[in-house]
Amino acid sequence: MISPVIVVHPLAQIHLTELRRQHTSCGQFRWHLQRLAEILFTEATRSLATAPVRVQTPLVETAGSAFARSVVLVPILRAGLGLQEAILPLVPEATVAHVGIARDEATALPMPYYAKLPAVLKEADVFLLDPMLATGGSACSAVTQLKEAGATRITLICVVSCPQGLQALAAQHPDVTVVTAAVDPGLNERSYIVPGLGDAGDRCFGT
Ligand code: URA
Repeated sequence: MISPVIVVHPLAQIHLTELRRQHTSCGQFRWHLQRLAEILFTEATRSLATAPVRVQTPLVETAGSAFARSVVLVPILRAGLGLQEAILPLVPEATVAHVGIARDEATALPMPYYAKLPAVLKEADVFLLDPMLATGGSACSAVTQLKEAGATRITLICVVSCPQGLQALAAQHPDVTVVTAAVDPGLNERSYIVPGLGDAGDRCFGT
């Protein structure tokens, strides 16, 4: 199983608790998801490569930092959009690629239906965004597509994960870093994470 980076921070756990709460409204859910996404992305970029630059302050010239490589955000449609909304303002020059993967509710198997990726991914820091790592089917499918398109540095940012999803990812893509706020005990018979927070896309978009 991949050892995920579990973000143990009081604010992360407070936002996660509100996301888990059944009666959190759609607007509140979105707000807490965005705040938690900012924290997760900050952790996911802790060792992001930077390039030294010189910067002129109003007083003197001094040393500063710039992005060393391009940053690509890849929300898995649709729930990943809820994370992207908060993360893009932190890296406004990032490229946003989209991967559409539906889940067959009967089999819980991933059904890829859309992909729009940049031509050059090889040198980029790629952040795959999906709030829930459940069976791992969607994440594995998205990572496979990204690698086929040339990606070599991939981090999955998810709010809640579970052992089944982490194991599936470890089996197919052990090189992927996972950053999450929680590893829940497991899945129910419909492949929803338990205790989880329900359907992240439905709760985020009010459907
Ligand atoms: N997708 C969700 O939105 N929630 C789960 O628990 C599993 C997959």
